[in-house]
Amino acid sequence: MGDRYRAGLGLLILTASAGCGGPQSVFSAGGADALQINRLFTVMLVGAVLLWLSLNGLFLYVTRRSPGRMSRKLAEGVIIGGGIVLPLVVLTALLSWGLSIMPDQRAPGDGLRVRITGEEFWWRVDYYAPGSQEPVVSANELRLPAGRRTEIELLAGRVIHSFWVPGLGGKTDMIPGRTTRMSLEPVTPGIYRGQCAEFCGASHALMAMNAVVLEEAAFARWLEAEAAPARAPEGEGQAIFFREGCGACHAIRGTPAAGVVGPDLTHLGSRTTLAAGILPMERAAMVSWIANAEAIKPGVRMPAYGHLSKAELEALAAWLEALE
Ligand code: CUA
Repeated sequence: MGDRYRAGLGLLILTASAGCGGPQSVFSAGGADALQINRLFTVMLVGAVLLWLSLNGLFLYVTRRSPGRMSRKLAEGVIIGGGIVLPLVVLTALLSWGLSIMPDQRAPGDGLRVRITGEEFWWRVDYYAPGSQEPVVSANELRLPAGRRTEIELLAGRVIHSFWVPGLGGKTDMIPGRTTRMSLEPVTPGIYRGQCAEFCGASHALMAMNAVVLEEAAFARWLEAEAAPARAPEGEGQAIFFREGCGACHAIRGTPAAGVVGPDLTHLGSRTTLAAGILPMERAAMVSWIANAEAIKPGVRMPAYGHLSKAELEALAAWLEALE
């Protein structure tokens, strides 16, 4: 094997294994559903490797043996046993097991209901506490209590999307005009990255979201804070926000801003990311986003505010960050 091939193979293995960890991986499972999928995958992989090895072993054996010495009975046994009976048994067992875990994956939630709507290119996230018809409106971040099964309703705006947080569970399509559902039971608190998994337009790859799993008590405290109106400080940033008409698209509860076209910004500063999972929640990122969102996320409907001075952008970003 030449050096170049060896380097290429090494790079391939490295690239392939780089996808096996981190916050957006089926292999770093933090939820009951993902663990189950993980187990299914492992069993299938080990089974496939064993079958591949035995088949190749058999192949080597027959090619090194002179023909004619195998009895007809044995040959028929190999064909019927290995070609019909074995696959039938293995595939039936795998199919039955695969089907048997589906009811668990689709089990109804036991309290909280979250309605997530795929937009271009962000997520509407509405929380319905048990017994409540009034949602707590949020966006671009999903928070879930550990140890509970949460019912997830999935909707879509104009185009199809797919909701997927690999560390927590499987993926489900979001289809305009229809409501699909799934449920998730996170186990380990932490941050799991989700990604839109169905091509939805220019910025499909830039449509992500963090799922933050909290202990049950911490989640209850968070939901209560999220339900409260914004505690926005008075100041220049606020004046710029309303002067520029931002409130026509964005809502900030507790202020006159009540737009529903864009993401709700009531507690924007408390989220872990900006622009649906693609930017850190930091001043510089916020400034560049407001100045020219299209340059960061092609196809986004938010216009550029490049006409604002650097000082104005800073003031606006500071005010938005203070919305905790
Ligand atoms: Cu939304 Cu792809």
